[in-house]
Amino acid sequence: MNTEIIKIEEENIDRQAIVRAGEIIRAGGLVAFPTETVYGLGGDALNASSSEKIYAAKGRPSDNPLIVHIAKMEALPFLVREVPKDACKLAERFWPGPLTMIFNKSKYVPAKTTGGLETVAVRMPSNKVAKAFIEEAGGYVAAPSANRSGRPSPTLAKYVIEDLDGRVEMIIDGGEAVIGLESTIVDLTEEKPMILRPGYVTAEMLASVIGNVETDRAIMDEACDKAPKAPGMKYRHYAPKGGLTIVEGQAWQVEQYINERLKECKAGGKKTGVIATDETALHYQADSVKSVGKRKEKEQIAKGLFRILREFDDEDIQVIFAESFERQGVGAAIMNRLLKAAGHQVVTPESKL
Ligand code: TXA
Ligand code: MG
Repeated sequence: MNTEIIKIEEENIDRQAIVRAGEIIRAGGLVAFPTETVYGLGGDALNASSSEKIYAAKGRPSDNPLIVHIAKMEALPFLVREVPKDACKLAERFWPGPLTMIFNKSKYVPAKTTGGLETVAVRMPSNKVAKAFIEEAGGYVAAPSANRSGRPSPTLAKYVIEDLDGRVEMIIDGGEAVIGLESTIVDLTEEKPMILRPGYVTAEMLASVIGNVETDRAIMDEACDKAPKAPGMKYRHYAPKGGLTIVEGQAWQVEQYINERLKECKAGGKKTGVIATDETALHYQADSVKSVGKRKEKEQIAKGLFRILREFDDEDIQVIFAESFERQGVGAAIMNRLLKAAGHQVVTPESKL
């Protein structure tokens, strides 16, 4: 398949291109498009065969449901059996934006789109290109992140092209995703709202609108033997090609431990990388040291994390060590993604004091 690649700027939207993208979706084809979180791989959410094509293009298991993207609130009732009060409050505060809500689905949403579940995930993105595109596409666009299954989610069009060129009809290049991590997912179908995937909208932010929310224990806690409620969270994910280990502990211990391991890896002829912060980047002796920014600026760390994982692949790094981050606020999302990228490989160096 020949993939058309087209640049569209948020502040100067090329209407003709958007109309063409919408036509592709309505004809059952696929278009990758920018959102504020990460790029999405879009198809018509109401067309079962489009959803099948999405799974095939991504190489994704078809029991892993897709998020349906809408552009306006009036589109929601068609997709769901009821809109709980909490959902209205959350939508008012966080839509359009990086929040996905799970509802009981209506009969109009094909089982193929929801991976066979009776629930449906819905999000209204804030990116203007995404909104215009969803409207033109008929108002209901199913879209997982636009990476091949298992790879880091793309925050730049060049990574979408790397993964999906020749597999979709069109890729819209809208520049760098401003948030860089996928949306927060909150389930509103049970008695108590529950976070199934942490994101930029934190537990504290949700609680300030609807009161206490729980977090699915299975997503962060290695000791929990239950399967996570969001089917996608059970798969190894975001994995760079080099093995990744997270090192936890006091800054000096982490640095000492990583530098010792780096020496061993180098002696073994391995190409090494470190995910560091501005405060520590100069302290490491690896082939490639990448700072995610200042330790305190979590939003900045979130924005750059997936790009850095991809860059290590571009540089053929074979062994990667990462510093660890506080799990508060957006830190919960950062650590969730990092832990998955590391296949939960975490070490805590012994204190020698
Ligand atoms: O920011 C985002 O959410 C991006 C952009 C493109 O909008 N999309 C995204 O989609 O991250 P994806 O498919 O990569 O991740 C969707 C996650 C998966 O873990 C999936 O299992 C979960 O949402 N999910 C979807 N529908 C669900 C449902 N009905 N119940 C529970 N989890 C669901
Ligand atoms: Mg994904």
